[in-house]
Amino acid sequence: MAADILILYYSRYGAIAAMAQHVARGVEEVDGMQARVRSVPPVSTVCEVSEDSIPAEGAPYVSVDDLRECAGLALGSPTRFGNMAAPLKYFIDTTGSLWLGAELAGKPAAVFTSTSSLHGGQETTLLSMMLPLMHHGMLMVGIPYSETDLLHTDAGGTPYGASHLAGADSKNPLTETELRLCRALGKRLAGTARRLAR
Ligand SMILES: Cc1cc2nc3c(=O)[nH]c(=O)nc-3n(C[C@H](O)[C@H](O)[C@H](O)COP(=O)(O)O)c2cc1C
Repeated sequence: MAADILILYYSRYGAIAAMAQHVARGVEEVDGMQARVRSVPPVSTVCEVSEDSIPAEGAPYVSVDDLRECAGLALGSPTRFGNMAAPLKYFIDTTGSLWLGAELAGKPAAVFTSTSSLHGGQETTLLSMMLPLMHHGMLMVGIPYSETDLLHTDAGGTPYGASHLAGADSKNPLTETELRLCRALGKRLAGTARRLAR
């Protein structure tokens, strides 16, 4: 039976959603592994108004059980002021019961992000996204420089995780290099999860 890698993302304008699809393709290049793609609802200052449980478009909303059941996690967020977006952090802050039981400890995890500007905080976002995952005891998987796209990219792509330079209007499509690095990250994550499961 195939094991699932959870690809969990938040995307307001579509860049992270596109990256998630390519990370998922990388996951599915590994025999016996499949991608489970999930998103989180936006958060609102109007707390009385609750979101529908199923989004109008995009991936279904995540549950804590998705995390419990996964063999690994790829977490994707737009950069917001050099950090991950609040809706994703809001969901992560509901995972205390998993933390108490160390249910994610020893599972591999990877991160990906997108920015408008080249120096707008890709690395800070990726590194800070790792922090709660490390509290959970997850094993971080990055991208090694044997992926030579890292040496030549003039857009996104970091050793800490996949990234995308969306541009001032947030409309840049993924470059071929960014796309390959998304796929490489998904494949490495799934390969690691498979080896750990043996
Ligand atoms: C509130 C807010 C804060 C942002 N902060 C940053 C930032 O610190 N650096 C940056 O380069 N882009 C920043 N952006 C731009 C987004 O990171 C960028 O458009 C990203 O590609 C959006 O991803 P999405 O298309 O998946 O929503 C910000 C956007 C918003 C709405």
